[in-house]
Amino acid sequence: MPSDLQQRVDALRWYHTIDLGHGVTTHGIDDSPLRLARLDLPASFTGQTVLDIGAWDGFFSFEAERRGAARVVAADYYSWHGDGWGTKAGFELARATLGSKVEDVDIDVMDLSPERVGTFDVVFFLGVLYHLRHPLLALERVASVTRTLVVLETVVDMVGIGRPAAAFYPQRELNNDPTNWWGPNVPALHAMLRDVGFRDVRTVSPEPSRLFRAARALSHQLRGRTRLAHTYRQDRAVVHGRK
Ligand SMILES: C[S@@+](CC[C@H](N)C(=O)[O-])C[C@H]1O[C@@H](n2cnc3c(N)ncnc32)[C@H](O)[C@@H]1O
Repeated sequence: MPSDLQQRVDALRWYHTIDLGHGVTTHGIDDSPLRLARLDLPASFTGQTVLDIGAWDGFFSFEAERRGAARVVAADYYSWHGDGWGTKAGFELARATLGSKVEDVDIDVMDLSPERVGTFDVVFFLGVLYHLRHPLLALERVASVTRTLVVLETVVDMVGIGRPAAAFYPQRELNNDPTNWWGPNVPALHAMLRDVGFRDVRTVSPEPSRLFRAARALSHQLRGRTRLAHTYRQDRAVVHGRK
């Protein structure tokens, strides 16, 4: 079983890094355990329902199940149906290998509604917001299916500017990726989440110091990846919103 499993894992291109047991871990480009540590998730989801929007290989869905969720639904479309993102094969192999009961639904975030998917105690919205052309509208959809808590993780930009603001990425401005559109700053994230109905909003990720941001921007520029003035204002943040 393990050697056969290893072959099947090696045959796929993974986004998430998932420990499948049997001594086999997927070699995703995403350091998923590291990102999990930044989310400040409740230790237990016992008895709760969880929706994972943009689940891809399902690392965070399986984690919610591992923490006792009564029901977990993984939702995605783009990375499950090719066109440059990937496929659903990793999710399906991981689900079968883990003996998971995580359900799946093919849906665009803009089509989420209580009528289509129901409502959930907890909603994960991780690494998706900056891929959307209409982020505030998307957050309305997300809020419509959230009963209690949304865990939002995203690229942020305009860091250090006190007012709500967002950078727009026409073409391939962010990471040479044409699917990236908007980088709001943390004040904008808070304001948008409040606007769509989350009353208690707090940032759970640390804000990097100016010195750290400057050093990181310089190192990126030296590696020829980006413009220093842009990278200096970019980061990732995790925000919890409660109704
Ligand atoms: C950077 S990956 C993040 C995957 C995972 N949520 C995580 O945090 O590791 C972005 C995911 O968002 C999904 N996505 C992009 N646009 C979407 C949309 N309009 N509706 C739903 N999912 C979308 C992609 O298919 C992909 O799985």
